[in-house]
Amino acid sequence: MKILAIETSCDDTCVAVLEAKPSKTGVSFTTHSHVVQSQPIHTNYGGVFPAMAKREHIKNIGPVYEQAMRKAKNPKIDLIAVTVGPGLEPALWVGITFAEELAKTLGVPVVPVNHMEGHILSILPSKGKTFTWKKKNTLFPALSLLVSGGHTELVLAQDIGKYKLIGQTRDDAVGEAFDKVARMLGLPYPGGPAISHLAQEERKENKISKLTFPRPMIHSKDFDFSFSGLKTAILYYIRDLPVRQASNTPLTEKMKSEIAREFEDASIEVLVSKTLRALEKYKARTLIVGGGVSGNTYLQKILKATLKKISPKVTAHFPAKGLSTDNALMIAIAGYFASQKKNKKGVRINSDTLRANGNLNL
Ligand code: KG4
Ligand code: ZN
Repeated sequence: MKILAIETSCDDTCVAVLEAKPSKTGVSFTTHSHVVQSQPIHTNYGGVFPAMAKREHIKNIGPVYEQAMRKAKNPKIDLIAVTVGPGLEPALWVGITFAEELAKTLGVPVVPVNHMEGHILSILPSKGKTFTWKKKNTLFPALSLLVSGGHTELVLAQDIGKYKLIGQTRDDAVGEAFDKVARMLGLPYPGGPAISHLAQEERKENKISKLTFPRPMIHSKDFDFSFSGLKTAILYYIRDLPVRQASNTPLTEKMKSEIAREFEDASIEVLVSKTLRALEKYKARTLIVGGGVSGNTYLQKILKATLKKISPKVTAHFPAKGLSTDNALMIAIAGYFASQKKNKKGVRINSDTLRANGNLNL
């Protein structure tokens, strides 16, 4: 079965072609193509404007589709998978409309996919073009820490398709906080990689952080998060700096690095602390980390080191390079499993039931 997947939930226009060959023991997958076209137009605005993202998706979707098909050597497609939420609704509709029109032309069904399930399954592909899924696996129960520009969630996965939300952010997502702090420091959007780079440089120079920002909700008994207070603390810290009070001079590079470092320390400490507690409470066998922020090297390092110390039996899975941020390969994988389930239940996968849902739950 060859699946064509489309992802337009935020500011990346993505198309992938994935082949799935089921066998008695599981499924073997081959990635034929996986194209991501980002939208540099947002770089200077510090965030994504839905109307602007929609316009860019409309411009990009045709060429990105053609590129993905050409790279895959124009195969016969059997199924289309498309993200229907959560995300920016004007942006989601571009992908849905394109999927529906293509489905009509090709005479194939469309299966709707939840973007967050895509992030969970984004850990399946290994480095090369092929990867397998075995029915007998040791992944579940898995705790998923999903950290992106729109979400910060802890999700317990009992199996593929069986998810339970156990905690989430009450205000900003952690990726959003990276983006907003980056904007305060005059760094481009998306802010994650730039902040992380500065923080790393500062850590090399000083073992201990010179600043102290809050770790919101780190001691709360639940598994919820909050990042807006941390962001505001940084806003006030910058506003009240003596040099800015006196003459409103710009921040020096050193000041920026110190802020970036303490912000990264604080946000990652909260993520790691809550994740470890949830792993223990829910007796999860593995930890899955997905979403744009899962590519953060400091988060990966601290999580791995803490697991080794506290829960050495739990294995951590991160997406392969290029699959942390939004992509259509993860949507193709989720689409494949969804189509199998729906077929078994006898539910017809029909494109006329598709609707964008910005707040779609898992
Ligand atoms: O999953 P994603 O591509 O899109 C959403 O679904 O939101 O995540 C994008 C987010 C942005 O907020 C970006 O700043 C953040 O992921 N991000 C990072 C890193 N790379 C991307 N945050 C921290 N460290 C990184 N290395
Ligand atoms: Zn995402």
